[in-house]
Amino acid sequence: MQPAKKQQHIFICSECGYESRKWLGRCPDCGSWDSLSEQQPKSSPRLGRKAATAQPLTQAVAEEQERLRTQINEMDRVLGGGIVPGSLVLIGGDPGIGKSTLILQLLASLARQECPTLYVTGEESARQIRMRADRLHIHEASIAVSTENCVEAIIDLALQTRPALLAVDSIQTVFSEEIGSAPGSVTQVRESTARLLHLAKENHIPILLVGHVTKDGAIAGPRVLEHMVDTVLYFEGDRGQVFRILRTVKNRFGSTNEIGVFEMKESGLAEVDNPSALFLAERPVNVPGSVVMPSVEGTRPILVEVQALVSRSSLGTARRTAIGADPQRVALLTAVLEKKLGVTLFDHDIFLNVAGGVRIVEPALDLGVVAALLSSFFERPLDPSTVVCGEVGLAGEVRAVGQMELRLREAGRLGFTSFLMPESCCKQLQKKDNKDIQIVPVRTVSELAERLFGPQS
Ligand code: TYD
Ligand code: MG
Repeated sequence: MQPAKKQQHIFICSECGYESRKWLGRCPDCGSWDSLSEQQPKSSPRLGRKAATAQPLTQAVAEEQERLRTQINEMDRVLGGGIVPGSLVLIGGDPGIGKSTLILQLLASLARQECPTLYVTGEESARQIRMRADRLHIHEASIAVSTENCVEAIIDLALQTRPALLAVDSIQTVFSEEIGSAPGSVTQVRESTARLLHLAKENHIPILLVGHVTKDGAIAGPRVLEHMVDTVLYFEGDRGQVFRILRTVKNRFGSTNEIGVFEMKESGLAEVDNPSALFLAERPVNVPGSVVMPSVEGTRPILVEVQALVSRSSLGTARRTAIGADPQRVALLTAVLEKKLGVTLFDHDIFLNVAGGVRIVEPALDLGVVAALLSSFFERPLDPSTVVCGEVGLAGEVRAVGQMELRLREAGRLGFTSFLMPESCCKQLQKKDNKDIQIVPVRTVSELAERLFGPQS
C-alpha cells in the first residue's frame, strides 16, 4: 500500500520563480538573497474542463491566420508582420522608457482601422491616460480604458466587450482573487498570465502585456513569463537619448532579433525609417577612434558608429568600459591585439561606446572594435568613407559573418566607398555588381592594421 501523500511546502523565489521544497537563504538559480518565501501549494492550473482530445498532425494544419496589422511599420516588422489572433505578446522595458506611450499609439492606430480595443491599466488613473492621450492627439472613442486590476474581472470585461486587442499595463499590477499572495509576487504574476493566456487562446483575443524590467535586465520577477507568452519584445534605449529600440527576444510567429527604431518626440514616438542616417548624423570626421560598422539586426541593416578611447592609465589597474558592446568580447579582442600586434594595452584605459545608445550583440562588431581601438591607440583617424565588418578569432584571424550583401548595399546607399571584410565573404560578392564600393579583403588583424594605418614597425 502506498503511503498517503503529505501536503508539500513550497518556497518560491520572488525574483525568478525558482521553486524549492525547503527554505534557502540564497536562490540557487538567480543567486538573490532572502528571496524565497513560502507559498500555498499550488493546485495545478486546470485551464479547461473539457475532456482531452487529440487529432492527427496533418489535420491540425490551420489556414494561415490573418494578422492584425498595427499600421505602425516598425512595430509590425518586429512582430513578424502584425499581431497573430489569440497571441500573447509581452513588452518589457525600464520604467519611463515609453511603453505606455507606445501602447496608446498602437491602440490609436487600430482604432483608426475601426478596431475596438481595451486598455486595462493598473499603473495610472484614467485621467492620467487621458492626459497622455491629449498630448499624443489621440481622441478615438473606440479605445475603452479600465483601471481594473483583478484578472477575473478583466477577463469578464474582455468577454463582454470582445476587443480586437486587449492591452494590460502592467502585468505586475494584476492579481487573481483566488490566490493569497500579494500583487506583483511571482505566483500572482504567473497565475494571472496563465489566465490571460487561456482567454487569448480560447477566444482568439490577442493580448499585449507590459512587464517591468529589473535592474539586471530580466522582466521583473518571473522569467517564467517569457516561457508562457508567444512573443517577447524589449523596449530599450537610453532615457537621455531620443532613440528607442523595440527588439524581439522571442517570437513564435516570426524571426527574432528584428528591431524597430523609434524617436521619442514632444508628441509621442515617431518611426525612424532610415536609422543608419540617424545613428551616423553626429559622427565626427577625421577623429581617431571612430569607426563605422554595418550591422544587421534581423533582416535590417543599420550602420553604427563604434567609438574607442585608448589612453595611458594613471591608475595601477587600467579601466575597461564598454557600452553597447559585450565587455567580455572587448577584453578578448584587446588580448588578441596585444598578442598578435604587440601593442601594449595593459597600461591603457579603454573606453568603448556604440554611439546613439544602440546595443550590438553580433560578432560582426569585432572588426569595428579592433579598428576603433587601433585608431585611438595610434592616434590615426580612419578614412571617413570606410566601413569594416567581421568576426575576430583568438588567433587573430578574421572570420566570415552572414548577410554581407545586405551590409554592402546599406553601406553603398549611405555613400561609403570602401568596405573591409573577411576574405572568405568576398568570394560570393565579387560576382555581383558593386562598382560604387571597393571591397577590401582582410584575413588577420595584422592585415587590417596594415590596410588602415600602413605598415607597422
Ligand atoms: P511612458 O510611456 O509613461 O513610459 P513607461 O510606460 O515605459 O513607464 O513614457 C515616459 C516618458 O516619455 C516620460 O518621461 C515623458 C516621455 N514622453 C515624451 O517625451 N513625449 C511624449 O509625447 C510622451 C507621451 C512621453
Ligand atoms: Mg507606463
